[in-house]
Amino acid sequence: MGKVVLGVSVGVAVAACAVAALVVGRRVKSRRKWNRVVGVLKELEESCETTVGRLRQVVDAMAVEMHAGLASEGGSKLKMLLTFVDNLPSGSEKGIFYALDLGGTNFRVLRVELGGQRSDLDPDVEQQPIPEQLMTGRSEDLFDFIASSLYQFVEKGNDSVQSLVTKELGFTFSFPVKQTSVSSGVLIKWTKAFAIKDMVGKEVAGALQQALTRKGLNMRVAVLQVNDTVGTIALGHYHDEDTVAAVIIGTGTNACYWERTDAIIKCQGLLTTSGSMVVNMEWGHFWSSHLPRTSYDIELDAESPNPNDQGFEKMISGMYLGDIVRRVILRMSEESDIFGPVSSRLYMPFALRTPAMAAMHEDDSPELMEVARILKDVLDIPDIPLKARKLVVKICDVVTRRAARLAAAGIVGILKKIGRDGSGGITGGRSRSDVKMRRTAVAVEGSLYTQYTMFREYLHEALHEILGEDIARHVVINVTEDGSGIGAALLAASHSSSGSVDNIQLV
Ligand code: BGC
Repeated sequence: MGKVVLGVSVGVAVAACAVAALVVGRRVKSRRKWNRVVGVLKELEESCETTVGRLRQVVDAMAVEMHAGLASEGGSKLKMLLTFVDNLPSGSEKGIFYALDLGGTNFRVLRVELGGQRSDLDPDVEQQPIPEQLMTGRSEDLFDFIASSLYQFVEKGNDSVQSLVTKELGFTFSFPVKQTSVSSGVLIKWTKAFAIKDMVGKEVAGALQQALTRKGLNMRVAVLQVNDTVGTIALGHYHDEDTVAAVIIGTGTNACYWERTDAIIKCQGLLTTSGSMVVNMEWGHFWSSHLPRTSYDIELDAESPNPNDQGFEKMISGMYLGDIVRRVILRMSEESDIFGPVSSRLYMPFALRTPAMAAMHEDDSPELMEVARILKDVLDIPDIPLKARKLVVKICDVVTRRAARLAAAGIVGILKKIGRDGSGGITGGRSRSDVKMRRTAVAVEGSLYTQYTMFREYLHEALHEILGEDIARHVVINVTEDGSGIGAALLAASHSSSGSVDNIQLV
């Protein structure tokens, strides 16, 4: 009997030890997996590091590349395109001006009445889809359709078509164009859903002007605007005359700024009345070895339709941030089971869009319920523990913080190029304290900046860190809305026939 009891107790003890070993083994295993995930996060944080020192290197690289892009065609990844806009709205413009905005499947018509004295802008706007057959047919049909829509729009408003004194029109045309003057440019190629063969190589504003004349509309295409940033600087300058640059941070990103024509070396002898011109940087294409690049960026770029292109944009803009986060979650999910079995959605490019990522980042509920909902609905990852949800928030934070800080460095790069960063310009040897800093405004547009609070706050924080408080307090960021539409009408006003029109000369 004693033996039996002893045998049973030994058996129980062995079983208990086995269970304990199993539990401990599982714990060790799960801790190991958790450590692996934390390792992935740590590696991400390190490779996204944007210390002030590194940001200052990016600032310098941006300023140097701007110089190189102005010195010769193809001299830099920055295209530094001439816009021929040599005159920005001052707020004193008066009259009625129109704008057409063509860039996608819809086009818009706008009418703005300006009363001088920086009057409030309250444009009439109408949007229309472009019939599909017109996107691939003949150019005359497309422009006749646009002219007819404009005609109807004018008739509906306060202007009678018959009594219309010549009205100035700004035309935003978001396709690759070789600009030849403020109101003319030749179409290089169509993009998006358009493919009208007979238009390639032709003068864009001329084609619209002819259609307006055929329709009997007394309007003059005063400005052909091929980039949305140019409209943004115009709108920014209308409200604040200290505006020297405009930045768009939305789906894509880009910047333009007000440059002295004598600094545009690649176009010697450029004469403008103001002595300056807006330069479209196409900064999305900027590249520097100082940019903190991760393995996720390299994969994203390699799998994109435009590898080695738009490197800066791929780290900053709304098109890509969500996808970088998706790639990090995928890596973690492959390394450990903290997200459950690897969801097939994690392999889908762009499955996680930036607005959803921003919503996770800004989830302030204690249990991170919004994070849980988005992971489940968007990425098909249900029921993960709170600590894993916290990890996702951290990934969003790292990716967004890097983006916002790099955008801030880009802005300071522009300020440095034009001597508004308090350092006396790239070649200046003066110390910061010697330089009297003028109030400097930058117009900013785009959903990433306007709708993503964390992004905006990180950008401001970095501006202050890079510039230092003394200089940063002279730099103002003004949010604008619809520069590509309203800005075109304002440019039509500032380049109207009563003002300086096409007076840019090459001597
Ligand atoms: C385009 C720029 C544009 C920017 C903002 C970029 O992807 O290359 O031309 O200004 O997006 O819309």
